[in-house]
Amino acid sequence: MSSPPIEARQARLTGVGVGPGDPELITARALRVLRQADRVVAPAVAADTEGRAESVVRRADPDLAVHRVVFAMVPPTHDGAGNGHTARAQSHRGAAQALLPYLDAGEHVAFVTLGDPNVYSTFSSLVAAARALRPTLRIETVPGIMAFQDLAARAATVLLDGTEELTLVAALDGIAALERALADPERAIVVYKGGKHLPAITSALARAGRLEGAVMGELLGLPGERVGRLTDVPASGEGPVSYLATVVVPPGSRGR
Ligand SMILES: C[S@@+](CC[C@H](N)C(=O)[O-])C[C@H]1O[C@@H](n2cnc3c(N)ncnc32)[C@H](O)[C@@H]1O
Repeated sequence: MSSPPIEARQARLTGVGVGPGDPELITARALRVLRQADRVVAPAVAADTEGRAESVVRRADPDLAVHRVVFAMVPPTHDGAGNGHTARAQSHRGAAQALLPYLDAGEHVAFVTLGDPNVYSTFSSLVAAARALRPTLRIETVPGIMAFQDLAARAATVLLDGTEELTLVAALDGIAALERALADPERAIVVYKGGKHLPAITSALARAGRLEGAVMGELLGLPGERVGRLTDVPASGEGPVSYLATVVVPPGSRGR
């Protein structure tokens, strides 16, 4: 059957989670959607630099053509004048604009992202920017395995059992959210975006008596990967811990 004329095709932007890094952790659905899409795009800091999500896709299927869409590296924090927010918004708008020629031609564009596209992903910001330009654009997502799941498996850590609860915190700007989660000793905690605050995270867990059993995974499935008990990390570490670091803290009372 021949493909429908462009006017009849509905543009689609699909966020495809490709897992944390190991190409074996990309799902069958993700690969199918990437293979069926008209165009696969991956975030990159520069046109000549392969991003991490792109590297996962290339290792999973070397025959897939992946196009880069450049995002300026602007931290999600902002200065007093709000300049960080503005620069990030501009970066996302620029990326969305770069996709418009394909979307306006009715293409199905698949955007690859680490982990899951609905959790702390650039994809949500890209969608907001794209919808500002094309309000009726059809959006879909394909779930992906997240770093904390990969870390729990590698460290043989049961994260939750029975009626235990989990809090996922981001520690980009410090450990305030972690401290709040630690107020409940029964709660399992996952810390994302905490690479540069790892010493403070370790101290907070020690103060709360939760260091035992805590594990850290850095660059899971990617070059430079490290997995181990949090207590061992500073000793074995060379250089600063990557932004791509995850800490898993099982519930405090288990086994006592
Ligand atoms: C911008 S968030 C992306 C989260 C992603 N969408 C997910 O579902 O896992 C980045 C954070 O995810 C975690 N992360 C993602 N990939 C990772 C990896 N390969 N190794 C360790 N942590 C990772 C880290 O905590 C990192 O700071």
